[in-house]
Amino acid sequence: MTTDDVAQAERVTAIGFHELDTRMFRRAWPDPQLRPPARSTHWIRRTQHLLSTDPGGCWVAEDGSDLLGVVVSFVREKMWLLASYAVVPGAQGLGLGRALLAPALEHGRGSLRAMLNASNDPKAVRRYHEAGFRLYPQMFLRGAPDRSTIPVVEKVREGSADDIDLMDSIDRQTRGAAHGSDHEVLLEQLRLVVSDTSTGQGYAYLDGGVALLAATNRRTAARLLWEAIASSDDLLIGHITPENDWAVEVGLAARLELDQGGYLALRHLKPPKPYLPHGALM
Ligand SMILES: CC(C)(COP(=O)(O)OP(=O)(O)OC[C@H]1O[C@@H](n2cnc3c(N)ncnc32)[C@H](O)[C@@H]1OP(=O)(O)O)[C@@H](O)C(=O)NCCC(=O)NCCS
Repeated sequence: MTTDDVAQAERVTAIGFHELDTRMFRRAWPDPQLRPPARSTHWIRRTQHLLSTDPGGCWVAEDGSDLLGVVVSFVREKMWLLASYAVVPGAQGLGLGRALLAPALEHGRGSLRAMLNASNDPKAVRRYHEAGFRLYPQMFLRGAPDRSTIPVVEKVREGSADDIDLMDSIDRQTRGAAHGSDHEVLLEQLRLVVSDTSTGQGYAYLDGGVALLAATNRRTAARLLWEAIASSDDLLIGHITPENDWAVEVGLAARLELDQGGYLALRHLKPPKPYLPHGALM
């Protein structure tokens, strides 16, 4: 992949995902070509960042001048991560996905641990299983919270770039690798809240729901989740493995709906906790 491919690659992932997104989140966009513009801009910015840090992890498949598939992977502190993986619907199931994933996996050859968020697509699941990933089903919470259930949220403050060292330290404890320079992109695109007390540390990136949450204990994680719930009238809190039942407890207390979809796919790693991974940056 080159920087010139990124805009077209965004289209490939938007089309490849439309049907799945609708099924998993019951979130229908009027036209599969039209991912909401803010999400497209975020995807492009994030992918340009990953292409600059990990050019060897990003590949496209093309037919003449048309892109048919894309894979975006990257390595952080000996962990291989997969941000995006899609083939256009008309070319799926013909082996392109396998051909794309091979050089991306090769990019992570020196990494023992690996993590990605898998869709429900049976074709994707076959590829990840073959690559040695164990699949952990995920739940999600959505809806409008019952505001009368929301407690007063204390010991949570707005975060900034000054918190990157703290967040990297929390990530090493919870998922075994820091996000490092990925925080620059996350800080640009999302609201950051932090809880830093003598008994526990944690942070969350919020986007109307929770985009990413990590903490050193459940109590701090729950506090950050309540802040997210207090900040929004319509939430989607995704990527909840059973190990993160603290999130289910808070979400049901707020009268959100619990549903399930997708997998956290891990290699040589236990499901991180307390942790709700980012969809692409984990
Ligand atoms: C996941 C994806 C990138 C894989 O690319 P692809 O070109 O379809 O993959 P391949 O053809 O190399 O492999 C597909 C596998 O599924 C199998 N398969 C094909 N059609 C299938 C179907 N309808 N149901 C189940 N398995 C199917 C193929 O036989 C192959 O498995 P095998 O190699 O073990 O025989 C592509 O299907 C896609 O874009 N899906 C939608 C977006 C998505 O879910 N991306 C993953 C994000 S985590």
